[in-house]
Amino acid sequence: MTNANDTLPPPPFKIKMVEPIKLTTLEERKNILKTAGYNIFNIPAEKVYIDLLTDSGTSAMSDNQWSGLILGDESYAQCKNFFHLQSIVQEITGFEFVIPTHQGRSAENLVCFALNLDETKIAVSNQFFDTTRANIESIGTKAHDLVIQEAYNTSIYHDFKGNMDSNALEDLINQNSNVAVIIVTVTNNTGGGQPVSLQNIKTVSNIAKKHKIPFFLDAARFAENAYFIKLREKGYSDFSPLQIAQKMFSYTDGCMMSAKKDGLVNIGGFIALNDTNLYNRIKERMVITEGFPTYGGLAGRDLEALARGLNEVLSEDYLKYRYQQLQYLGNRLDTAKIPILLPVGGHSVNLDARRYLPHISQSEFPGWALTIALYENYGIRTVELGSVMFAHQNEYQEWVYPDLELVRLAIPRRVYSREHLDYVADSIIKLYKSKDRIKGLKMTYDPGLLRHFNALFEPIGE
Ligand SMILES: Cc1ncc(COP(=O)(O)O)c(C=O)c1O
Repeated sequence: MTNANDTLPPPPFKIKMVEPIKLTTLEERKNILKTAGYNIFNIPAEKVYIDLLTDSGTSAMSDNQWSGLILGDESYAQCKNFFHLQSIVQEITGFEFVIPTHQGRSAENLVCFALNLDETKIAVSNQFFDTTRANIESIGTKAHDLVIQEAYNTSIYHDFKGNMDSNALEDLINQNSNVAVIIVTVTNNTGGGQPVSLQNIKTVSNIAKKHKIPFFLDAARFAENAYFIKLREKGYSDFSPLQIAQKMFSYTDGCMMSAKKDGLVNIGGFIALNDTNLYNRIKERMVITEGFPTYGGLAGRDLEALARGLNEVLSEDYLKYRYQQLQYLGNRLDTAKIPILLPVGGHSVNLDARRYLPHISQSEFPGWALTIALYENYGIRTVELGSVMFAHQNEYQEWVYPDLELVRLAIPRRVYSREHLDYVADSIIKLYKSKDRIKGLKMTYDPGLLRHFNALFEPIGE
């Protein structure tokens, strides 16, 4: 069961500006899908009614952030907004060196470079996000996911389904002397936005220290993770989200952050760490790829909006509302017996496509088929975290399918109202009644790495 939550208290903000959205006709959407090669990434955003493709870069900024844009100092080096951002990141993370980047994946790329990852090494995570995995694997390093087994069962409850299996981590390190980095993703996006406990971060930290392995947080959703700790982990209910976040970072050697999530901005990221050697390597490298280390591919105004967003995201009123919004949607679906991943995560409600569409085998992409059906019938855009994104071929060229076949309904921050969520819930419940009519898909173009972005499909049997 989700937490009982049939009502949704009003948001702790009111609306100052509106952006019109329009529902197209069924006929239009059928044509749009055909033209898009049945890939929801190819659908023009204007033709989407409710866009739950991602919570990344889709936040509504506050009046405080928008007014900060006017104060952007666009000097090439050492602009004043960098110092504002630096002081806030230092306060939250406790790290000395703060390096802005244009988004999370460039932070990942720079950290991989600085750590000298190569084909002889192994990187370990609870679960790597797809861009992190791609950054690691594209240089030949092996990427291992060691999330706890409960994470792979959508119907059992666990307070911290994003936790890393620390025994498996010890075993892996004991069997391999070449583990070069441990990265814990908070919250675990790939596993449905599930949180990681402070105790687990501490245990992983002790193992990393014992074996002298650098330990980083992928901190894209650090504030949401901190709020789960406050609600669920014994001993932290009286701590502020900031204090919990500070504790989370204190056990690690550094972090990479896609600020497009809990930075409450539309673009941006950063790296923060203490190690002078790593810092120098990143600084030298980034002038070739990102820009000077005080702007890292961002405008001064972006740095200011991010500094302000990082303050706002730690507001307890905001985090409580965000949590309740997700619980509300999850609860509406769970009450209607729609198979979802339980408990509900921090930024997304996830449909279990294998249980929603049991008549479609993983080789015919049930998760993807569900995303197509939701768009075709209701104009709702979601994303598959399943066989298109994660299936791979083993050394015998056989396809290995992921344990989870999810359709993620990622909720943008401060964007949609309860009425929008009700439309989404009603649509999914209605679609479930005629689910047997949904067909699988054949992939007609497979681009390889990160294939969900560019793959093309045809419906089977049409
Ligand atoms: C956990 C996690 N890490 C890294 C990234 C990559 O960040 P970006 O999209 O800013 O490159 C994402 C993006 O969704 C993410 O969810």
